[in-house]
Formats: sequence, structure tokens, C-alpha cells
Amino acid sequence: MKQKLIIGNWKMHGTFAQARLYLDVLLPKLPNKENVQVMLSVPFTLLSTMSEKTKNSFLKIGAQNLSEELEGAFTGEVSSRMIQEAGASFVLIGHSERRRLFHETGPQIRRKIEQALSAGIQPIVCVGETAQERQEGREKDVLRKQLQEALDGLSLENIIVAYEPVWAIGTGQNASPEIAEEIHCFCRGILKEIFGAGSDQVPIVYGGSVKDSNVAGFLSQSNVDGVLVGGASLDPESFLRIIQSS
Ligand code: PGA
Repeated sequence: MKQKLIIGNWKMHGTFAQARLYLDVLLPKLPNKENVQVMLSVPFTLLSTMSEKTKNSFLKIGAQNLSEELEGAFTGEVSSRMIQEAGASFVLIGHSERRRLFHETGPQIRRKIEQALSAGIQPIVCVGETAQERQEGREKDVLRKQLQEALDGLSLENIIVAYEPVWAIGTGQNASPEIAEEIHCFCRGILKEIFGAGSDQVPIVYGGSVKDSNVAGFLSQSNVDGVLVGGASLDPESFLRIIQSS
């Protein structure tokens, strides 16, 4: 049976004190299930302490972004090597908030994926259509383009894809499990075109208003390999309930 991935995304939340309290609640209750991998994507400032505190646990700590450059005069940027040294084992790339608010482009996202892979960090490549693109019936074209730009020509090892419809992120309006399943199947087809044989091993997780009350519906779909959880991962008890539903 394929492992289910439960991935939290704290976004720009979390002080040192909050992180300490959170781990004090989460770690003792974290179930050790072979078929579940729990991951938490935290701000850069928390990477070192949180990866240190969780090194003997089943929780993986990751970053939410990285630079497409290796080093140099790029004020304010943080490189793949830096996050790797700080303990990140994975990184979110191309989250819709980065695409929309920080104008990240397809080629930039591609370079970030390459930087992550060359530093041995697992990229979680986020794709998703806007409400308007869906209304216009263009969601599949958009997803195809995003996946191809991000992944064409790469090897499939270590890659995770996250389908996060922009209209479902932070809105409380989750996609139905049936929509998620349909789109994941579509993405599987694209991954097969890109990677060929073996592409089935690339996990595709769903994100967008996942919470404890709806997570089971997503995880019961055969092409949904896990969930990416924003708001509902900020409270350790709520994140634990999501983990326990898996
Ligand atoms: P949400 O965020 O769960 O708060 O909708 C998901 C995400 O942005 O990864």
C-alpha cells in the first residue's frame, strides 16, 4: 500500500514560543504508522530549531520556498544549500501564493525545483487553477502547462506534486473529493507523458481547505496520496485529528 502524506503548511505563522508549544503537544501523540508520513512546512527562521527538536521523531520538517540561485548578490534570498543545512528535508515550490503575490513564473519555479533536487531536498511542486480558469473550462490546460514547465526532462525520483485549486485555498470552499480524484487522474496522465514508466510512484496530494471533518473523503480516493493542509495545521490538536483520520 502506498504511503499517505499529511503535510502541514504554516505559511507566515509561528514564533519560537509557538513552535515549542506546538511540538510539546504534537510529538508525544504523533502516531507511528508505517503507511503515513507527516511533514510540516515552516518559516525559514524555525527550520533549525524545529528540525533539531524533531530529529528522533517521525515528523519531517521542510521549507516553504527557496531561491532559484545558488549564491551571490540576491539580497533577502535563501538558497537550497542554506535550507538543507538548516534541516529542511523538503520544500514547497510554486505555491499559488508565491505565483500570485510574488509573481513567480514557470521558468523560475523550474529552476527552484532543480536547486532543491541538487541539494537533496524533496520538492513539493504545487499546481492549480484559479476560479476564473475553471469557469472558462481551462483548468486542464492550465495544469498541463504548469506540470510540463515544472517537470519536463527531469527524473521522477523524490518529486511530490500538490494539486491545490486556487479557489479552494484559505476559502473554506474545498474541492469535492470527486473533483480532486478526477483532477489527480488527469495529472497522473500528464506525469505518465512526462516520466513514462514508473510515474505512478510520484505522489499527488490535494490541498485547499482540508480539515479534520473532510480529510477522510479525500484520502479514500484512490489517486489522492495525501493532503496539504494550511489553516488547519496551525493548531496541533486539529492537525493531530487530521493525522489520525489517515
Ligand atoms: P488552506 O491552505 O488549507 O488554509 O486552504 C492550503 C495551502 O495553501 O497549502
